Amino acid sequence: MTTPGTMQLDVHLTDADAEAALRSDVRHGLTARPKELPPKWFYDARGSALFEKITELPEYYPFRTERALLTDSVADIARSSGADTVVELGSGSSTKTRLLLDAFTAAGTLRRYVPQDVSESALRGAMDELHEAYPGLALHGVVGDFTRDLHRLPGADPGGKRMIAFLGGTIGNLLPGPRQEFLGHVRDVLEPGEQLLLGTGLVTDREVMVPAYDDAAGVTAEFNRNVLVVLNRELGADFDVDAFTHVACWDEANEWIEMRLRASRDMRVRVSALDLDVGFLAGEDLVTEVSAKFRTEVIDEFVAAAGFEPTRRWIDPDHRFALSLLTAI
Ligand code: SAH
Ligand code: AVI
Repeated sequence: MTTPGTMQLDVHLTDADAEAALRSDVRHGLTARPKELPPKWFYDARGSALFEKITELPEYYPFRTERALLTDSVADIARSSGADTVVELGSGSSTKTRLLLDAFTAAGTLRRYVPQDVSESALRGAMDELHEAYPGLALHGVVGDFTRDLHRLPGADPGGKRMIAFLGGTIGNLLPGPRQEFLGHVRDVLEPGEQLLLGTGLVTDREVMVPAYDDAAGVTAEFNRNVLVVLNRELGADFDVDAFTHVACWDEANEWIEMRLRASRDMRVRVSALDLDVGFLAGEDLVTEVSAKFRTEVIDEFVAAAGFEPTRRWIDPDHRFALSLLTAI
């Protein structure tokens, strides 16, 4: 039962769980062909701070486009939703979420906000700031992995209703199989009539998309290389971080941006915690992230397959980003 103004943090991903998952992902990813690492390992405290810098870059249109869509739509969303709990997956700094919290407060229904993120530092920082800005709101943070831990999210209060927000286009960072599985899990944790607010990047001009992932100031390059900094620190690896070049390219067939780290010379890297030696050839790529962009008909298909009904959709005038309000059937 929700008590106004309380603050609670559940840690479902302990340091030991995170380290075991990192070991397994790195062993698998560095011995795969092509080599790959899941993007969730970007987000230690430094990676989360670099992502915040990315959102301020002139080239990175997704953040400000979604923020403008939210500004236009939150009053309608709050009025029609009636949710007393807003849950947010991959909430990060919860910056844009304030638009939602303000609108749900104005509509008179909001009692609880449940931010969930794999980055404990980002989550704690966001909760401290929100506690000051919204003193009457119950905050229930959850440190966890949205691909594994959704069943551990708090349920609805008796007679209450939840809306899950998944913003930023983060769904595009999941490959098609895991994406469908993830949406199925989101549907499973919701009751019929509860809602999902989903932000998705749309397929647009390559000249717009690629610079968003390869900015002139090199912030995205630092964000990308940060995963190697994480491996060096957490697993005693000896990557020469500066010997990897940031690469961002548009994969036409899959309709996603692919970020890679390209070895600038032949290298041998030791990952001591795994007792693993990995060879890189000059020019060899390590795939670190995909960021899929969608067509609206594809969004319609994958949300319907997961058991959601489209309720409303907002798209910016340049057709670069969509915000979809979906209802669990
Ligand atoms: N929602 C915010 C932040 C997007 S950045 C926005 O729209 O601006 C992506 C966020 O997802 C980061 O805070 C990162 O820590 C989190 N994240 C990435 N993979 C995750 C996972 N598997 N489980 C939970 N959080 C994850
Ligand atoms: C979190 N996610 C939606 C970002 C994106 O655009 O795919 C991560 C990012 N990668 C490079 N820049 C931003």
